[in-house]
This record gives sequence, C-alpha cells and structure tokens, in this order.
Amino acid sequence: MIDVVLLPGMINELILPQSQVVVFDVLRASSTIVTALSNGAREVRLFSDVDAVLHARGSIPPPVLSAGERGCVMVPGFDLGNSPAEYQTHRVGGASVLLSTTNGTRAVVAAQAATEIFIGSLLNAQATADALQPQLDHLHTLLVLAGTDGQIAQEDVIGAGAVLWHLLGGTYRIDLPYTDTAWMAYHCFASVRERLGAALRLGAGGINLIEGGFEDDIDLCAQLNSKSLAVRVHKHPLRATAVL
Ligand code: MLT
Repeated sequence: MIDVVLLPGMINELILPQSQVVVFDVLRASSTIVTALSNGAREVRLFSDVDAVLHARGSIPPPVLSAGERGCVMVPGFDLGNSPAEYQTHRVGGASVLLSTTNGTRAVVAAQAATEIFIGSLLNAQATADALQPQLDHLHTLLVLAGTDGQIAQEDVIGAGAVLWHLLGGTYRIDLPYTDTAWMAYHCFASVRERLGAALRLGAGGINLIEGGFEDDIDLCAQLNSKSLAVRVHKHPLRATAVL
C-alpha cells in the first residue's frame, strides 16, 4: 500500500514496523536537512526538544552545531536557525548538526518504529522516489506529513505529491495500491507543479514565514529536484545522513 498520512497523529502504529516512511516538512525542516547534507554536513541529529540538543552537544565529537527554531525564529544561543540559506558548505561542511524544530523533527520521532525512514522535500523528490523503489513490493510506503501545529499543511501535501509523481512516472504500476489520500496529494502536486513558489506562499506555513521575514526561504524550498541525494534516518540515536 502507498499512503499519505496527513498528520503524524494519524500514523497507524500497527503497520509502522512493516513500512518504509518518508517524512515531509517542506517549510522548512526537511528542506533544511536535505540542504545541510547536500552541502557536506556529516550528519543531522534529530531532537524533539531544545534541552535534548544542549544535553547531547557535549558528547558528540566536534565540529558540532546546535540548530533549530521555535516560532520560526532561531533558538537563542544556538548556532543556526531553520533557514536552508544558513546551511552553506562553509558553515556545515564536516559538522554534526543537532536540530530541533517545532513540527519536522517531532514527526520523525513519531515515525521511528518504521523499518526505513527517509526525509523528503521538493528539493530531492526524484532521489526520494528512487530510494523507495527497491522495497515497494515488500513494505508499505507511508508518506508522513509533519503539518503545522497540528494542522494539515498544504506544502507537505504538495511535497508528498511530488514524490508520488516521480514514483509513478518511474514505474507505471497499475498493481500498486494507492490510497485516496495518496491520489489527492498526487493531483495537488500535478495542479501546481509549474508554480510551486506561488502555491507554497498560500498556505499557513508560507504565510507564517512571510510574516516572520523569511519569504526567500519559500523559493529555496520550492526548487524541485535541485538536490540529487536521498536522505536516510538511522536510529539510536536518530540521525539523518545522505544515501550514498
Ligand atoms: C518546523 O519544523 O516546525 C518548521 O520547519 C518550522 C520552520 O519553518 O521554521
């Protein structure tokens, strides 16, 4: 089954251990993670809480950067916020980034019982679809959307739709059972794929960023397939790395 789970709270825990999961927080956590790893970060460790970042920091070999936001704004005292623009090679190259965000990293924590976890975004939609292919016949494929403060986020629906678009384009498999939410995401992406930046500005997540002075990040997060890497999440501890 290929399903889009509209919010982390809607995950069916019973099928998680037989599933490969992709987590989406298009604005901005998953786009930031993909950008950090594309620009040479050694790993991005994922934390639900700011305190857990501070606690872990001393036990990880340098260079280490603490990163994240609350209310879209960088956590006071941290090295980086949650804007992909900050994650340039000269800042993150070779570093362990310890990231905590309001919705995105928490969605990964919610999915951690899955067999495989990937981080998806518009930036790496094709690479993510390619990474899902080998297990399509053996595992459920769940695209889990982080949402914004408990509400469904349209940019995450569009991001999941982009991965489904590439998945279906790569293998036209009439036998693959798509759920209705998967088809909804597919058609949502298909209807806006020529104007992704404009579409991302319309939802609550986009409006929050515009009001917070981060409008340029929307265009950075809208660059379809600008990164050719898939991102896998490892467990114990939760850490994202590029799939080589
Ligand atoms: C989140 O994880 O809550 C978001 O990425 C928030 C943000 O865009 O900073």
